[in-house]
Amino acid sequence: MNEIAFSAPSDRNKQPILEVLLQLLPEQGRALEIASGTGQHVAWFAAHLPHWQWQPTDVDGRMLPSVDARCSEARLSNVQPARLLDVLQQPWPLGEAQYELIFCANMLHIAPPACGEALMQGAARHLAPGGMLVTYGPYLEDQVPTTASNLAFDQSLRTRNPAWGLRRREDLEAQAGQVGLRLSGRHEMPANNLLLVWQGGQDLL
Ligand SMILES: C[S@@+](CC[C@H](N)C(=O)[O-])C[C@H]1O[C@@H](n2cnc3c(N)ncnc32)[C@H](O)[C@@H]1O
Repeated sequence: MNEIAFSAPSDRNKQPILEVLLQLLPEQGRALEIASGTGQHVAWFAAHLPHWQWQPTDVDGRMLPSVDARCSEARLSNVQPARLLDVLQQPWPLGEAQYELIFCANMLHIAPPACGEALMQGAARHLAPGGMLVTYGPYLEDQVPTTASNLAFDQSLRTRNPAWGLRRREDLEAQAGQVGLRLSGRHEMPANNLLLVWQGGQDLL
């Protein structure tokens, strides 16, 4: 049997993220996860939000068996088999599917800047009316001093790959604005991360 991939950061942040999602989300809905990685987030959220239907995805086909194995081990009947999805390949292979939640953690800084624009484009196409895109991770913000640990993380990412690096929240806001999405929520999370909520319609911040 293949080993199920495991990420220590995902294990630490899944509960704090869930606590914010529980405040934000209605009782039931359809959720699309972008960049599922090991599947720890989708498995945790699906177990604690049992009236939601979850669709995990990732660009890396090697991760999908781990996502499926984790969800099947946890006997989660509300998670669909994980699917290949590269945010850069538009349109996303989802047909006309609409979701009340599109969730994406820790992808934007480990991907080229074009992925931010692509994420916003795809989300604008697939969010149901009133739905929300939630992104989670470390960001740069013009009016908020970047912590030494995030600066060091940014440097280490750029050394590994010059196209990677922490994204400016304001750049993402501009990209979101081009497709009719607005930042409607900003939640400070442990370890200098942010959970950002993006929705259509009025700017609620
Ligand atoms: C650091 S991992 C985060 C995984 C998981 N979301 C988490 O927070 O533990 C980054 C993930 O982004 C995915 N990724 C990178 N580029 C992508 C793209 N263009 N489209 C979709 N996923 C992508 C990678 O395959 C990887 O699974």
